[in-house]
Amino acid sequence: MRTYSNNAQLQSALENVRRKGQSIAFVPTMGNLHEGHLNLVRKAASLCDVVVVSIFVNPLQFGPNEDLDAYPRTLAADKEKLFSEGVQVLYTPTVEEIYPEGMARHTRVAVPDLSETLCGSSRPGHFDGVTTVVAKLFNIVRPDTAVFGEKDFQQLSIVRKMVKDLCMPVNVVGVATTRDQDGLAMSSRNGYLSAEQRHVAPVIHQTLNACREAIACGFDNFLQLESHARMRLLQAGLDPDYFAIRDADTLRTVTPDTEEIAILAAARLGTTRLIDNVRIALNPVSDWGMLAGAH
Ligand code: PAJ
Repeated sequence: MRTYSNNAQLQSALENVRRKGQSIAFVPTMGNLHEGHLNLVRKAASLCDVVVVSIFVNPLQFGPNEDLDAYPRTLAADKEKLFSEGVQVLYTPTVEEIYPEGMARHTRVAVPDLSETLCGSSRPGHFDGVTTVVAKLFNIVRPDTAVFGEKDFQQLSIVRKMVKDLCMPVNVVGVATTRDQDGLAMSSRNGYLSAEQRHVAPVIHQTLNACREAIACGFDNFLQLESHARMRLLQAGLDPDYFAIRDADTLRTVTPDTEEIAILAAARLGTTRLIDNVRIALNPVSDWGMLAGAH
């Protein structure tokens, strides 16, 4: 595995890869790698000849009171994991390499609307930071395929929209959420949880699943389902940021045209903010009547 921190050196190595006719799959990360990340790497390896992973804790996507300084940085352990997975190229740029003139003067890429709802409303500017860095990383790596996790479902939707709107020549692939045995979605932020909080955290996934089951059984009062779920999170000691039943395609409210529903939740456990989501495909014929009156 070759590691590059310098854009020019990485780009010249990848130029050689392309010249040999080999395809490139890219997995952008912020490090502190766990099985969720490694499943993206495995998917990437199954799709292309060469896998490039980036590790960059992107300051532009953190708010002023967020955990940028505390974010876990575990480069040595991450390298070992990627090496064991057979990753050929690791890219670990510095903040200066990505933002040479500072963040304030750097060009921004923004996906309006989709970026303003759900996580976007409680983390203003967050997704602009994500799309700016992902667009830049795409231009540096120029991958054929880029792999993202469905755990960050809104992020995946926004990246797909950016790629479509800007005609970026990248095939975006989503990978299902990797979970601990008790259902908690794996996340670098789970490491912030105390033993007691870790015990409570799976309630998010349990509540999402209960909501999905209710919808699958034909329960169509979505406002009631959402408020019931928020109550359940509160009762478990979580502070819900949102619990929302949305069209998986638009992330807006469900309509009679909705083909798939995403149920998305964000909640705080102490100072740690956790997110998760599940989806449910609708059978267009039998569910049509049910959803015609849904809100
Ligand atoms: P990070 O949180 O490190 O996640 C990197 C990738 O791993 C993302 O595509 C994320 O959705 C995926 N991922 C994380 N946990 C997962 C899990 N439990 N199951 C499946 N996939 C999982 O997301 C970011 O970094 C950044 O915003 C980034 C895209 C790198 C831009 O800075």
